[in-house]
Amino acid sequence: MIDIHSHILPELDDGAGSLQESLAMGRLAAADGIRAIVATPHVITGLYPHSRETILEATAQLRRAFADNSIPLDILPGAEYRLESDLPQRMSRGELLTINDTGRYLLVELPADLVPDHTDLVFYELQLQGVTPVIAHPERNAAFARSPRHLHELVRRGALAQVTSGSLTGLMGTAAATTARTFLKQGCVHFIASDAHSSGGRAPVLTDALKEASRLVGTDETQNLVAGNPHRAIQGLGIKTGEIKNIKPAGRGISQFLKQIFTR
Ligand SMILES: [Fe+2]
Repeated sequence: MIDIHSHILPELDDGAGSLQESLAMGRLAAADGIRAIVATPHVITGLYPHSRETILEATAQLRRAFADNSIPLDILPGAEYRLESDLPQRMSRGELLTINDTGRYLLVELPADLVPDHTDLVFYELQLQGVTPVIAHPERNAAFARSPRHLHELVRRGALAQVTSGSLTGLMGTAAATTARTFLKQGCVHFIASDAHSSGGRAPVLTDALKEASRLVGTDETQNLVAGNPHRAIQGLGIKTGEIKNIKPAGRGISQFLKQIFTR
């Protein structure tokens, strides 16, 4: 498995707070069967203004530390960019770091409560440069949860979506779990990644989520989400997207409604 979203670099954001913590996360990931992890520290103007060079250097340092400590995990460079209106301009100036620096896939985080009006334009202008936006954990965005159609439209226009393993397992709460499972069944998810922040609560593990994903979309598609597509992403290869199905969110159907009434 390849984990394309993690905050494993030490002291760059709200993820690993020390090198020891990064090493503990590396050991956990390797034990879980992850063979490569993309380091994707937050990049947010005014809060975490990390440059490409800072992240590339920190990734190289942690790679050396993994080797020195015999941790069998490859670490690759990346970043998680807050959706900001000047992302396309920064991309064209060569300032951004795509997944494994191939120039093909950019991990983008939207605010938690809305889909900004400029999202369409930013994505379009990135795509004009041959860059595919990968939407980080859409299941944790309230607007996507209320109206999956927003996400479907972005995916139909070429964006990809990454669901967080802890959302599928219920670690991130019931609402995130319901939404993540719905998106998966609708066929608008292309990656499952850990979004790990520590070796504790949000740890770099994917196997727990595999069982839930396999139940929902089968083992072949689940393998595609944690291995096939991530492998293509780190190599900068194309990723096939399927048809999006209009499946209603679980818990809102009539059978679920009746079940709730009769189990009160
Ligand atoms: Fe993240």
